Amino acid sequence: MNRQTTTIPPADVERQLACCREVAQLTSQWPQQPLAFVDTYGCQQNEADSERIRGYLREMGFGFTDDEEQARIIVINTCAIREHAEQRVLGNVGALVHVKRRHPEQLICLCGCMMQEPHVAQKIRQSYRHVDLVFGPHALWKFPEMVRDLLQQRGRIFSVADEAGSIAEGIPVVRQDKVKAWVSIMYGCNNFCSYCIVPYVRGRERSRKPEDILAEVRQLAEEGYKDITLLGQNVNSYGKDLPEPMDFADLLRAVNAIPGDFLIRFMTSHPKDATHKLFETMAQCEKVAPVLHLPFQAGNDRILKAMNRRHTRQEYLAKIRDLKALIPDIVLTSDIIVGFPGETTEEFEDTLKVLEEVRFDALFTFIFSPRVGTPAAQMEDSMPREEKLKNFNRLVELQDSISEEKHAAYVGKTVRCLIDGVSDDARYDLTARTPGNRLVRVVGPSQAVGQFRLVKITDSNKWSLYGELAED
Ligand code: SAH
Ligand code: SF4
Ligand code: F3S
Repeated sequence: MNRQTTTIPPADVERQLACCREVAQLTSQWPQQPLAFVDTYGCQQNEADSERIRGYLREMGFGFTDDEEQARIIVINTCAIREHAEQRVLGNVGALVHVKRRHPEQLICLCGCMMQEPHVAQKIRQSYRHVDLVFGPHALWKFPEMVRDLLQQRGRIFSVADEAGSIAEGIPVVRQDKVKAWVSIMYGCNNFCSYCIVPYVRGRERSRKPEDILAEVRQLAEEGYKDITLLGQNVNSYGKDLPEPMDFADLLRAVNAIPGDFLIRFMTSHPKDATHKLFETMAQCEKVAPVLHLPFQAGNDRILKAMNRRHTRQEYLAKIRDLKALIPDIVLTSDIIVGFPGETTEEFEDTLKVLEEVRFDALFTFIFSPRVGTPAAQMEDSMPREEKLKNFNRLVELQDSISEEKHAAYVGKTVRCLIDGVSDDARYDLTARTPGNRLVRVVGPSQAVGQFRLVKITDSNKWSLYGELAED
């Protein structure tokens, strides 16, 4: 097994684009333009990967549909982070058997993190025989070649070899949004938190070259994108593998120097690598949004150690104090796992204490889910599910009251927000985001989408803010 990360030679990516042209030649002779249905589970990394899959599909001559019945090709990009995510995918893939019975020419492709788990690939091979193509994140760059082979000779293709991973530049993208864009700055993770599947399915940390990232952001800014998120599982360790020394704070400063009126966000940060230099850079760079997603997972040091997080509660709190001193209006969010194996209710209460001290604006909370092949899946886990649920509900309740109070403090203020879409709420036409990424539902005309506008906040609850456009 190759344990070195690699750069895919440009000629190899060019060969994939040639495969796209071959498929396009074929599809152009079909009576109608074929349509593709791409469904994405999981995190922003997967969203970004799906944009590249769509990019390839467009080059192959496909249009897009949200209706499985209309699709000549179905691509499901899966997530392995928790059991629940996997069950949903398997349920939906199982149901596709009926769709395919009505449309036997349909190609069904599964990709993403779940496919990189050997036991899942095996299950698909044996029990989901209507699936034609299975590939993990490592093989995404070869998608056109696999589609071409499937169209030329029916059969099944599995491309799920375990690898350290690679970087491929020059893959076309079809972005889902006209206002917000993702830019992957690195791939993989080296942290091996004991509960987490990501390092096993996404390979080792590898950073894109700064010039490639800057060129992509420059192009997005020129195209009028207003909200650009730099993505990686652990952006704070960006650059450690680059030949020239460049860390994440340096990259942020370089992105900030790109001309244009846009906001820069980034995720995810790991507390052990979040430095004073990063906080200072955030404070000094006017385009960097005043928001930090800094997962701490648990408030008890014994549990943090068992999670292999490599930071203590005090270290985490000290970083937050440092950051708040530099950026007093910083919006803070975090991820938390409840019910890690061996966590007692008393230890869980240390998590509540962190909430009370930091007062996060929002949280993403999860109940521990054992993942095959991770150390935590082997650990003794004796707390009954009801007790975990009780703790989980206490956490959610406490956070709800903090979020509600924090949101109430916005009422009466006028905030420069990015109007990012139309709202599904009949009373409010638009959705907007504060610089700290809090959701605002706004009354106003749809032409405002894509603009930074002053919004007067008139109301709030624990989930969001409400407001109206104010005169600039
Ligand atoms: N790279 C990011 C997080 C990626 S996964 C980071 O390190 O912060 C997103 C979140 O899912 C994690 O922060 C964690 O809270 C949660 N998570 C990961 N594995 C999990 C598991 N096995 N059970 C429950 N939650 C999990
Ligand atoms: Fe998973 Fe930890 Fe890596 Fe985040 S830092 S992706 S939680 S192993
Ligand atoms: Fe899921 Fe893979 Fe992201 S496991 S959370 S899609 S990196």
